[in-house]
Amino acid sequence: MNNNFHTEVLVIGSGVSGLLTAELLAAEKNVTVITKSELGKSNSRLAQGGIAAVTSDDDSWADHFFDTIQAGVFHNNNELTELLVKKGGECVSQLIEMGVTFDQSKDGTYSRCREGAHSVPRILHAGGDATGKELMNKLVKRVKESSTIIEHHAAVDLIVENGFCAGASFMNEKGNLLMVKADFVILATGGAGQLYPVTSNDTSVTGDGIAMAYRAGAIVSDLEFMQFHPTMYAGSGASFLLSEAVRGEGGRLVMESGVYLMEGKHELLDLAPRDVVARAIYEEQNMVYLDISAVTNFDDRFPTIASYLNEDDASSKKVPVQPGAHFLMGGVETDRYGRTSVANLFAIGEVANTGVHGANRLASNSLLEAVVFANEAATWMLNHKRVQHGMAAASQPLHIPNSLPDPSKLRTIMNDYVGITRHAVGLSTAIDELGAYLKGKKKLASSVEEVTLTNMLQTSWLMATSAYMRTESRGGHHRSDFPQANQRFQQKRIKRRILEDEWATTEKKSRAVF
Ligand code: SIN
Repeated sequence: MNNNFHTEVLVIGSGVSGLLTAELLAAEKNVTVITKSELGKSNSRLAQGGIAAVTSDDDSWADHFFDTIQAGVFHNNNELTELLVKKGGECVSQLIEMGVTFDQSKDGTYSRCREGAHSVPRILHAGGDATGKELMNKLVKRVKESSTIIEHHAAVDLIVENGFCAGASFMNEKGNLLMVKADFVILATGGAGQLYPVTSNDTSVTGDGIAMAYRAGAIVSDLEFMQFHPTMYAGSGASFLLSEAVRGEGGRLVMESGVYLMEGKHELLDLAPRDVVARAIYEEQNMVYLDISAVTNFDDRFPTIASYLNEDDASSKKVPVQPGAHFLMGGVETDRYGRTSVANLFAIGEVANTGVHGANRLASNSLLEAVVFANEAATWMLNHKRVQHGMAAASQPLHIPNSLPDPSKLRTIMNDYVGITRHAVGLSTAIDELGAYLKGKKKLASSVEEVTLTNMLQTSWLMATSAYMRTESRGGHHRSDFPQANQRFQQKRIKRRILEDEWATTEKKSRAVF
């Protein structure tokens, strides 16, 4: 392979958002998709729940909009949230046209499930609990035919020339570099679940896109809002997700005493917003179980989960659960068309912060976001030329700290200090400990492991810093020292490029307050 080439569109990452954008552009543009492992290995493939969309007369975009902003604790970008929910039906039709098969009831209508914080059943699913797999299988097949695919190349840096994005550099498993110039670059690298010890995320989801965009001078925002899914498996062996749809079909959380956990804690009980349920489990001293005895035909409805359950769990119908890092609401800030603050650089899917999820994402709105904004971005790129001038701040190319933490050490810091509940002292400790690695002497990258770990470190530091600066509790960001939401932050998204300098100034101000 030529280790320096040009493509019209460069897609970094291969989940639903990246592959769908590639597919929508490929008839008119030369598209290259580069991914750090195999094509399609992503969080999207693991999505169990489904896609939330208004597809019945008993539902309305206004209801879906209200559920979304209520779950997001009114931190959402209202304009883009309205766009998101209004486009739901259209997106589902597009996926069906592409060959995606959604589950149907015996009468031939689509089966719709209810999940946390939805006022009506509106989640379409495929293969029971294998919605992501169905979408990805269809998309992977199409993109293999329409685009150039390069696997096993990890993105190292975005190339910024004259203030605009002009491509990206990559490294393969042997440490060889590849430079790809492009008219448009699309970051579709997913979120940052792998910064935590318990996560539903694919092993490839290590916050790379956020760190790269930050180094390129892009605005990143809302990184304090990490969603912890309430029901990750907590028994022996590897952890796995137990979809919220299980509670949508009658599953209940019970304490060791046999008492229902969510009784008296929220009017929606087990279907309360995720942050509320995750905190309730976290605060319970003893083990919490997901009681699946009331779910009819569990094995047929949830074949993936059933295949993971061991005999004891399956026969007792009480599955031990714990919260785990699931979805990052913040990310690289974008507008309606996925455009970031760096010209010609786009971000789509979980890596982006469109603002549609606010402080806490509504269940099954993530695949919807990926599909809606892939369409918006593709439409823009098909109708515009690349921008020839830009104003991005000087980019800082990746340099690897001489001393890097073991990934498990980094995850422990994030879990202990930037986890479900945070406070100023812990966050300061995290910032100092992570910052100490980043401040040390640097060298050039020589392996994908070093690149990944440095990205993890930078994204962790940005998340800890963002969490320190938000002195209130809202959605996925809960501060024990500031337990209430603060009106000052309501409906006001904090836009900032978090720089080391800015942090230093804020820290001084904040310390004076404490
Ligand atoms: C789930 O199935 O519980 C996860 C789906 C989602 O995060 O929306």
